[in-house]
Amino acid sequence: EADLYTLYKGVYVPTVVHTPESLKYFEEFKFRPDDVLIATYPKSGTTWMQEVVPLILSGGDPASVETLHNWDRVPWLEEKQALVLNLDERPSPRMLTTHFHYDMMPASFFKVKPKVIYVMRNPKDVFTSSFHYFSSTSFLVKPGPQSEFLHKFLDGKVIFGSWFDHVKSWLNAEDKQHIFYISYEEMTKDLKDSVTRIAGFLEKPLDAEVIESITNRCLFKNMKKNKMSNYSAVPSEFMDQTKSEFLRKGVAGDWKNQLTVAEAERFDAVYKEKMKDVEYTFVWD
Ligand code: PPS
Repeated sequence: EADLYTLYKGVYVPTVVHTPESLKYFEEFKFRPDDVLIATYPKSGTTWMQEVVPLILSGGDPASVETLHNWDRVPWLEEKQALVLNLDERPSPRMLTTHFHYDMMPASFFKVKPKVIYVMRNPKDVFTSSFHYFSSTSFLVKPGPQSEFLHKFLDGKVIFGSWFDHVKSWLNAEDKQHIFYISYEEMTKDLKDSVTRIAGFLEKPLDAEVIESITNRCLFKNMKKNKMSNYSAVPSEFMDQTKSEFLRKGVAGDWKNQLTVAEAERFDAVYKEKMKDVEYTFVWD
């Protein structure tokens, strides 16, 4: 169990996809000003955004989301897969992903200031999604009983550290001009509006029909059918989707079916304390 995680700059990362070489590659990565970086705490809408952004940048052409796995299409910079993708040779604008905190970004990030889309989700739903996901994968420490996992989650003793630290790090970014903040809940409430606003941020104005077709492709029920995005290519010994599908429920507020009243209260108390200085208005409940 100890080998499943590697401690990197104070946060656990899954050892299976993070190697000394990949972490070094991340630290030395050279951004371009027109790179688009999707930044998320896990289970916050990463895969969703890995569908939305390529479709926007291609003007609605589905070729890349139909032929490339999400991890090749919008690769995680810190994962070993990035080492084999020749990102230096990819044409601009490149699309990249990271699960790291703001202050873990490499030097070039702060100099070049690439476009960032930071996706946030109600942490109780992040907890719920993580609980199911961690149970179904062999390369993550099993969550154990829910009450214990809640402890670990609130303490940041899970992959990529504390949700609170992650969100605060990005919300407190020194220069926010190049960062677009959006929540999973805004996307579930009005995906078309979200796609429109993201396209605006990416300076890629699109016709109404194109926005419509992108929105349609990115609906949960349609993305679930996309073999390039639903993780069906991952062998079941690593990810057992008969236990819990990667695209599991795709809704806001599922924590209400997961947390006991006492657990929700405990969550709220920790949230209130940790988030007391945060001014951002979140749209979840
Ligand atoms: S990961 O492992 O960090 O990359 O996971 P991530 O993609 O960030 O989060 C997975 C959750 O996002 C949901 N999801 C979606 N919801 C609505 N619509 C669409 N199109 C969509 N695509 C992915 C996915 O179902 C996971 O949430 P839960 O609550 O478990 O269903």
